[in-house]
Amino acid sequence: MSEHVKTEVADGVMTVTLQRPEKKNALTTAMYDAMSNALERAETDGSIRVVLFQGDGDSFTAGNDLADFASQANGANSVEGGAHHFIDTIGKARKPLVAAVQGNAVGVGTTMLLHCDLVYLAENARLITPFVNLALVPEAASSFLLPLRIGHARAYAMFALGEPMEAAAALACGLANAVVPQTELRKKAHDAAIALTKRPAGSLSLTKQLMRDHERIAARMAEEGSLFKERLKTPEAREAFAAFAERRPPDFTKFQA
Ligand code: COA
Repeated sequence: MSEHVKTEVADGVMTVTLQRPEKKNALTTAMYDAMSNALERAETDGSIRVVLFQGDGDSFTAGNDLADFASQANGANSVEGGAHHFIDTIGKARKPLVAAVQGNAVGVGTTMLLHCDLVYLAENARLITPFVNLALVPEAASSFLLPLRIGHARAYAMFALGEPMEAAAALACGLANAVVPQTELRKKAHDAAIALTKRPAGSLSLTKQLMRDHERIAARMAEEGSLFKERLKTPEAREAFAAFAERRPPDFTKFQA
């Protein structure tokens, strides 16, 4: 388990709270593992009817820990497990998933929302998928699910230009259920989770299954996963991670097209 992920179960709701606010809840391998374990437990534990994700501090999550990406890029750490397993697990979840998002939701912080069933945003929420800026490719089947949800043009701007999607725009284009003041965010999401606990679990699970093309999602995750692994080891990706660590903009022009 990770000291940076707290899991609590009460009244049929498993609440998974990211607790690494000093690093904007950037996700380490241990944090991904804790989140995967929580989701796996929820699938088999009859006392859990809904899973609710939230993050402490001013950001939901800054996405994958970029120091971890850098060590995967230079081969010091395995690319398998961690993020890969979490994405696979959230893609297969059968129970309802609810998310409460404030501040920045970067990378997997946004792509995981495409696998959540109810998403609540604070007014300051910003969804950011800077995969191309990091010389990577989209993950978590987001290359399929995001354009499906918001159209190619908006999805491409988010992926290729790293354009943030502000809360109001995210609500307008179907990425969220409601935007609320930050002080009301957790209550809004928790109330929704409690409402789901009172619905027939079998019916909820089948409805979710009918609404999602599991085969297609899994196939796209596999395709993205192998490209992502290749891209992680490219000189461009190494430049992007070094630039973040050195707090400077990356220079991709030194690499040939
Ligand atoms: N991985 C590792 N550390 C991260 C991180 C990440 N993804 N995101 C933020 N941090 C760390 C910073 O290095 C900094 O650490 P320090 O205080 O030890 O220097 C701390 O969290 C605060 O981040 P900072 O950049 O100062 O906060 P900010 O409010 O100015 O900006 C973000 C917040 C999220 C916009 C910015 O940190 C960011 O762009 N992070 C990278 C996001 C990213 O590309 N994720 C990968 C997606 S695939």
